Parts: sequence; C-alpha cells; structure tokens
Amino acid sequence: MATKKPVQRRSVQWFGRQDIYGFIYRSWVRNRGVPNDQFDGRPVIGICNTWSELTPCNTHFRVLAEHVRNGILEAGGFPLEFPVMSLGETLLRPTAMLYRNLASMDAEESIRGNPLDGVVLLGGCDKTTPSILMGAASVDLPTIFVSGGPMLSGKYRGHDIGSGTNTWSMSEDLRAGKITLEEFHEAESCMHRSHGHCMTMGTASTMASMVEALGVALPGNAAYPAVDARRNVIARTAGRRIVDLVKEDVRLSRILTKQAFENAIRANAAIGGSTNAVIHLIAIARRIGVELGLDDWDRVGNGVHTLVNLMPNGKYLMEDFCYAGGLPAVLRELGENDLLHKDAPTVNGQSIWDNVRDAQCWNRDVIHTFKSPFKKNTGIAVLRGNLCPDGAIIKPSAATPKLMKHRGRAVVFENIEDFHRRIDDPELDIDESCVMVLKNCGPKGYPGMAEVGNMPLPPKVLKKGITDMVRISDARMSGTAYGTVVLHASPEAAAGGTLALVENGDMIELDVAKRRLHLDVSDKLLAERKRKWSAPKPPLERGYWRLYFDHVLQAHQGADLDFLVGKSGAFVPRDNH
Ligand code: FES
Repeated sequence: MATKKPVQRRSVQWFGRQDIYGFIYRSWVRNRGVPNDQFDGRPVIGICNTWSELTPCNTHFRVLAEHVRNGILEAGGFPLEFPVMSLGETLLRPTAMLYRNLASMDAEESIRGNPLDGVVLLGGCDKTTPSILMGAASVDLPTIFVSGGPMLSGKYRGHDIGSGTNTWSMSEDLRAGKITLEEFHEAESCMHRSHGHCMTMGTASTMASMVEALGVALPGNAAYPAVDARRNVIARTAGRRIVDLVKEDVRLSRILTKQAFENAIRANAAIGGSTNAVIHLIAIARRIGVELGLDDWDRVGNGVHTLVNLMPNGKYLMEDFCYAGGLPAVLRELGENDLLHKDAPTVNGQSIWDNVRDAQCWNRDVIHTFKSPFKKNTGIAVLRGNLCPDGAIIKPSAATPKLMKHRGRAVVFENIEDFHRRIDDPELDIDESCVMVLKNCGPKGYPGMAEVGNMPLPPKVLKKGITDMVRISDARMSGTAYGTVVLHASPEAAAGGTLALVENGDMIELDVAKRRLHLDVSDKLLAERKRKWSAPKPPLERGYWRLYFDHVLQAHQGADLDFLVGKSGAFVPRDNH
C-alpha cells in the first residue's frame, strides 16, 4: 500500500540548512533569544499584523497578536510576527480603497519571501481584511483569519448610536438645522468609545462575517466585540489551529472554493451586508482561481432574506448581534432552508454545517428566522442597461421601497468637487423626484473608487422632510450608509462608460425588480456625445498612483490590478546571497 509522502516544510529550506545560508538564515533570528530547538523543523507561522495608530480600528492588534503567538507556541509552532501596510478608513486620503491592492502586494510578497509555513492574518478596519486575504490567496499557504472585532455600541444621551450610520444622519440633521454643533461634537466621543472597528453592519463587520462564512476564520469571529475576552480566545485558538493546518497541509485554496464564496454571498444577504463585499469577494476569488462575477451575486443571493436587524438597515448594533448568537445563528437558518453548502470545509477541520448546526439564537428581534425575516428577498441586486452595460449594484435592504421603481430627471455632478460646490446652492434646480448623478468617482476617476456614492441630499429637499432620493454613480458607498443608491456603475465615467455622457435633464429609469437601469437617450445622440468626450489624464504622473491608474480593473472585475489577478504560489527560486 502506498504511503503518503511527508510534506517538506518550506521553512526547512531556510532554517534546516547546514551551510553558509543556514548560518545566515538562523543566526540573525537568534538575536531575540530564540533557542536552537525552534529550528528543528517545527511549523514556522507568520502573524501578519495590520496594527497601526493610523488605523484606529486596529490599535489593539499588538495584544491580539500576543494571543495568537501564545497559541502557536502551545501547539509547538515557531511564531514570527510581521507588519504590513495598514489601511485606516477614516484618515487615509483620497480613499483607503486606492491602497487595497498595494497592501495586498505587501502581504503577498512578505509571506512568500520569508520562511513561513502558514500564516495568521489579523485584519479589522474595512480594507485591512480584503487586502491581506487577497495577498495570502496569491501565495496559497495554510491560512487563518482573525478579525479584530467590533467596538462596543455607541451610547449618546440614553440611546444607541452606530458608527457611520449616525454620522451620516447627524450630519444631515445638522445641515437641516435639527441639532446644534455642540450636540454634534458631543456625539463624537460617545460614538467610538472602545477598541475595535465600526460596530454597525458596515464593511468591517461585513468582511469579518465574510471570512467566517468562507470558512477561513473560526466560528464566532464576526461578532465578539474587540474587548470581549472571547475575542482573545479566538486569537489563541487560531494560533494553535494554524500549526495543525500546516501539519495537515490544508492550504487556503482547499477552503476558498466556489461553494465557500456562494455561502458568503448568501450570508451577506442574510446579514444585510455591505455592498463593498461584492468588489472584495470578486477580487479574492480571482486571486485564488475561483470564477466569481456580478451575476453570481444576483443568482446565488436571489431569494435570500435579510435576517439581521442591524444598522444601517435596522436598529441594533454588533454587540447585540453577538449576544443574540452572532453569525453561527444566521448560518444555521440558511442551512435549515437549503441555502448553505453544508459540506464546505473550514479551518477548524469541521464542515461549516458541523460548526453551526446547533447554534442558538437568543434574541429573535435581532436575528430573525427565515420564515419571519427582517426584510424579504433583499440580496444585492445587479442592474444592467445602457447606463451600466457591465453592471451596477444596489442594496435593496438599505433602499426606500417606493423609489426602487422610479423615473426622474438627471441632475449631474461632473466630479466630487462639482458636487460639493453646488449641492448647498439654493438655486440648484433639483427636487425629490430628480435622480442625482455623480461622475468620475470610480477606480480610475477618483482615483480609488471612494465611498461617496451616498451623496448627501440638497438642503432644500431635506428641509421638506425628505430623507432619500435615487442616486447613481461609479463610486462605492460606506457599508454603514443607506438610501436608494446605485453604485459601481461599470464601465466608470473615467473609462468612457455611458455615465460620462449623462447630461442635466436626461431622463433615467430605475427598475430594481426588473434589474434595469436605463438612460433614456438615443444611441445616436450618445454616440455624438461620446465623440466629444476625452479621457482624463492620470492624476499623478509617477509612483503608485500612476501604476494604479494604468492597471486597475473595473468594479465588476473586483477593481484589482490586472497583473495581480491569480496566484504565483509559495515558491521562491534563489537564496539571498
Ligand atoms: Fe475602521 Fe469603520 S473606520 S471599520
């Protein structure tokens, strides 16, 4: 009977050598007091840390990394922590998304170029999760993701306030004269009062849920607050478990299968997750070699109800979600309604169904049942039409039902500066029946596809008590935001998409049920406008911005850089001296 050949650990190619290279690889590592037995061929585990004071959501990650380290040591592994570029959503300009692909390159090359057999990824703030997972996917070593966890609920004058969601609403209230500047300032320190990432179901919480649904994080990863001791237990358990994954040679590609992505898409619908997950999951899938496109989102997510009553779609926050049972309770509902690939493997060695089949829900107002959902059939809707031949998306759970079928006159803003210059002008020719159109905020246009698609409404409309209008752009929207907002129109305006050709007064038809977005202008007239259109120049002539501008793909392809799609594996050809 054939016996299975033992796997040669890649770290042995560094630390197991008995020549000058072995001396070089080991000797400098010893300067931290590393004993000789650490070089005996045990699994060497990287802890990929996105800690940074410039990423406020990730500032507790040094502690988290220590818990991972303890777990690795307990299981007989050799931990080596390393930093990668961290992307802080609130400070980084012009948008953290511009740098997601750069950070992914940092993670990929740091993992591949070093003597690592497996890696634990630590991410939290929005882009820190997809960036390092994209990088790890292109190397394809055994990998576990540990999220930093959400902040505790914001508390302001006796009620809950949520990251982003109440930032938008309070800023609209301020502009409408409903609250004072003092109240606005007071809310700043009441909203973000503990370690962790945004505690609404924004992009960070969504992506933490996505890695759990994909099976690359341990059960419970999505919802335990950052300051909950169980978050540290997850980190320590991940440290122990990654050592086993290396011994079992369970690479990331064994976990990130098409079925895993389909589970994640359904989970996203059930949690009412961020539209940003669409772009990130497509980008991650294309790295690992899984075919995933916009149509998968509509096909797989269709018929899935939103079960979770969290801001921005509902009223609760991630802390409530945790106490109600978290993502396992949601996945159980999906599984019991034939909406989960139950056999999908996960990093703890069990199938996803084994992980969640006994999950309990402790509060049905926070996590609804599938039979009595919070909102019906509200997965991401993918729109098509002459305004977005390659697709655009809308999140029905965050939209106003009566606006989901709408015909209105376009009020066009050529770019974000044009929008800021004119939106507060009392003379702006606009009312609530109009369709606000924002151009040049896509991947190339902004650059980086900023979260500006949820344009604030004009004060003259707000003062009438109107809180939503149809808005269309090639931009993204914060996962904490809401409204009848059509996003990611592809091709974008800066790439010559039809969006670039829309003019004030054109009529636009939106019909979400029919998945249609139509610009009511003849092909002939559009062709005439296209002849007069000229492509924008790169915003900077050199550096990463130039590389990004020249190589970024459109939103429906995940907005990755064209030369980063796919994986190169873990092989490195030469010694370094
Ligand atoms: Fe970091 Fe929201 S700003 S998650």
